[in-house]
Amino acid sequence: MPRPTPPPSVHHGLVLEPRDVHFDWTALPLHWIPDEPMATHVINVLHLLLPEGERWFVEVFKDALPMITDEQLREEVRGFIGQEAIHAEAHQEVLDHLLGQGLDPRPYVRQVSWLFHRVLGDRPGLSAAGSREHTIERVAHVAAIEHFTAFLGHWILNSPALDRAQADPTMLDLLRWHGAEEVEHRSVAYDLLRHLDPGYLRRVRGMLVAGPLLVHLWVRGTRFMLAADPLLDGRLKPTWREAHLNARRGLLPDLRVMARSAVRYFRPGYHPTQEGSSSQALGYLAASPAARAAAH
Ligand SMILES: [Fe+2]
Ligand SMILES: [Fe+2]
Repeated sequence: MPRPTPPPSVHHGLVLEPRDVHFDWTALPLHWIPDEPMATHVINVLHLLLPEGERWFVEVFKDALPMITDEQLREEVRGFIGQEAIHAEAHQEVLDHLLGQGLDPRPYVRQVSWLFHRVLGDRPGLSAAGSREHTIERVAHVAAIEHFTAFLGHWILNSPALDRAQADPTMLDLLRWHGAEEVEHRSVAYDLLRHLDPGYLRRVRGMLVAGPLLVHLWVRGTRFMLAADPLLDGRLKPTWREAHLNARRGLLPDLRVMARSAVRYFRPGYHPTQEGSSSQALGYLAASPAARAAAH
């Protein structure tokens, strides 16, 4: 029987350019998908999670840099660090804007910060071997989360219903610029994990921790946003049925499609390049108003 071609361990030739984008939020309405507070706040959870989450990615990858013995991969990891650092700051600016609009995101962000820094953070005092092991374990978590960020990036690049619903164009550009870079660099964390530990078990463990954690944080974050929204006054409660109806209208990703994508991560021959489209992502980055402005 012919053997399937093994996936490349390193996505050769990838040059990741951090694009120093800026967005003007002064005119952003609180419900930036007009009359769709539920869909607006489900997507807003990204702004709650990403600044702390992506700063944590940067810390983990900086810890991993001295362990890399492949020059090409080291360059990709450096490019990844540069992109994620800019993503974190771009979403932070949205949080600052929400605060100015009377929606205080800080109580939830403090919980996220505690999780990333105290539970999943650095552990001073470990032996050299223990510290290496801890870093690789965290790279496995990042690789699993990056499967979802690439999934969401691909979704947001293919979400014409948001344009039809007249979602705020600057917010759509932020989400699509970020989503496109997630698709662009979707192999880096996985290739780094394979480089440091090619074993199947750690990859699976990374997803079994990161997948449920992400769902939990998202549900909590949506509840938090709807309760904290000064225009809603606690009247709107999130339900799975509502999320499902929004997904059917194309305003949110379909959870069943996302779950099927997560299952593909467990395939022995999985590689992130099998998901999403680099050419579509680069096409968006060439057209994105913010990315074009950053290039000049
Ligand atoms: Fe990112
Ligand atoms: Fe990423």
